[in-house]
This record gives sequence, structure tokens and C-alpha cells, in this order.
Amino acid sequence: MNTELKEKAKEKSYLHKFLNLKCAGTLLGTLYPISSGVEKEVSEAWAITRRIKDRIFNKERDYYNIVELCAGNPVTGILARLLFPVSSVTSVDKRLIERDYSQIRDYKYIQKNIYDKDIVDLINSKTIIISSHPCKNLAIRVAELFNITKAAGLYFIPCCHGSLPERWKQRQFLKENIGVYQTWCFYLAVLCNGHLEEDKHCLSPKNIVISAIRSEKDIFLKKLKDGFDFRDKLMSLGMPVSTDMLLGKSKEDFLKEIGIDMDMDKVIESMKEEKL
Ligand SMILES: C[S@@+](CC[C@H](N)C(=O)[O-])C[C@H]1O[C@@H](n2cnc3c(N)ncnc32)[C@H](O)[C@@H]1O
Repeated sequence: MNTELKEKAKEKSYLHKFLNLKCAGTLLGTLYPISSGVEKEVSEAWAITRRIKDRIFNKERDYYNIVELCAGNPVTGILARLLFPVSSVTSVDKRLIERDYSQIRDYKYIQKNIYDKDIVDLINSKTIIISSHPCKNLAIRVAELFNITKAAGLYFIPCCHGSLPERWKQRQFLKENIGVYQTWCFYLAVLCNGHLEEDKHCLSPKNIVISAIRSEKDIFLKKLKDGFDFRDKLMSLGMPVSTDMLLGKSKEDFLKEIGIDMDMDKVIESMKEEKL
């Protein structure tokens, strides 16, 4: 490669972009002393943050909060905190990486196992979940946490592969044709109904970014479904309730609030038919 091409490639590199940020020193200073793989971690952090940027800037300041799972050295969480106008960033890992995080506003690092039941308390409908290299089956739990909560989005880069369910194990042709890591990521993307992209600017061969977003329509259907489950419980106790009561507001107000233009009676009918 000639010198000019090398310079161009360098300018495109995520590390180069990161080092040009004013906040690069704050991040590196906070995480100092950091292990030798920092370039790799920065490239993964960049791959994730560049994909959530537009989403965050399209909403008002402090609308979203970010929860980083299996944070390790929390490069992605801190980068997101320094770049984005989100209300808070919380990094979670079962092993506490002790540093002085006091310079980073509205940021905390908590020691927690992501299999703990109460981890869901950290996640609400304005949460974007991120995770860089959750190993093996931790990635399944990351996808599951998106599925069982109302999180607004999920962006993660899986690492080494974990155990596939039996019916996927039979898909040997996938492993042979697209690769073991790729099959693992494909499985995870299916789990969270996500989208997957290979990011060759990541300085690691484990470079597939999976993103899943929960649309306002999905949130609406989930609220409605939760309402139905709740209504069934109340009905079984002999307490009939209307869907409007469950939602706590009038149909019109509810639809206006979530910005959905649809005939709710029809949705309810179709949900009943589909037994959602
Ligand atoms: C491969 S490291 C990834 C660290 C960092 N995100 C990165 O990109 O380098 C996986 C991390 O998951 C954490 N971990 C393992 N099991 C966990 C669990 N059950 N709950 C929370 N964190 C866990 C480990 O302590 C480790 O920091």
C-alpha cells in the first residue's frame, strides 16, 4: 500500500477518530492504567456508539439512558457517556473494576451479575442496552434482557460462541458455509429479532454488531399484551376491567402519547384472534 493510501486508511480508522476527540484524554485518564488491548476495545466502542448516535440525537436531551452489560474496562459505556446527551450511563459487571469515575458526570459502575433477577430494575422503556464482547452464553442473557424488558434498543458485539440449542446444532451447513462465529451471531440476532452487520473497522475478528430496536408499535403491543395478562388475572378474581382502565387513560390520549395512528378496537380484535 502506498503512503497516501496508508494515510487515508489511518484517517478512517476508529482509533484515529477517537484520538481526535476532545474527550479522549478524559476516557484514557479515567481508565489508566489499562491493559494493552485498549485499541481493540476503543474500536469496538466506536462500532457500537456510531450506530446509536443518530437515534440519541434525534430525541430530546436526556431522553435515553444507557446500560452497559459485561462492561469489563467500561470503554464503551464511558465513551457513550462522554459523547451523548443521555440522562445516565450505568456499566455493570460481576467483577468491579475499581477506578475513580468521579470525573464522569451521571455515570456509575456497579458490581452485579447479569443473571440476577433484579437486573431488570435498571432497564426501562428509555434504556438502550449496550455490550461489547459478552462471552459465550452471556450474549444469550443480553438478548434475553432486551426481550423481557421494555428496553428501547440493544446494540452488542458477541464474542466467543456459546451453546446453540439442539435445532441450531443440526444446521451444520451454516457453520461450514458462513463460519462458527457468524452462525452464533445469526442465532443471537434471531433471538432478539435484530439486525446484524460485520464491522471491519473493529480490530478483532469478533466484529459483528447486532442491533435490535423496539419500535413504538412494539411497545404499544407489549403494553397491550401486558394489559391482557393483567386483565385475565383480575377477571379470574371476579374483577372485570376494561382495556382503557388498564392503560390508565383514554384510548385517544394513549394513542396520542405513543404517536400511533391506528384503530385500537381493530388491534384488540386481531390480538384476540391471534391469541397474542
Ligand atoms: C470478554 S469480557 C468483555 C469486557 C469488555 N466489555 C470488553 O469489551 O473488553 C466479559 C466480561 O463479562 C464479565 N462477566 C462474566 N460473567 C458475568 C455475569 N454473570 N454478570 C456480569 N458480568 C459478567 C466479566 O467479568 C468480563 O468483564
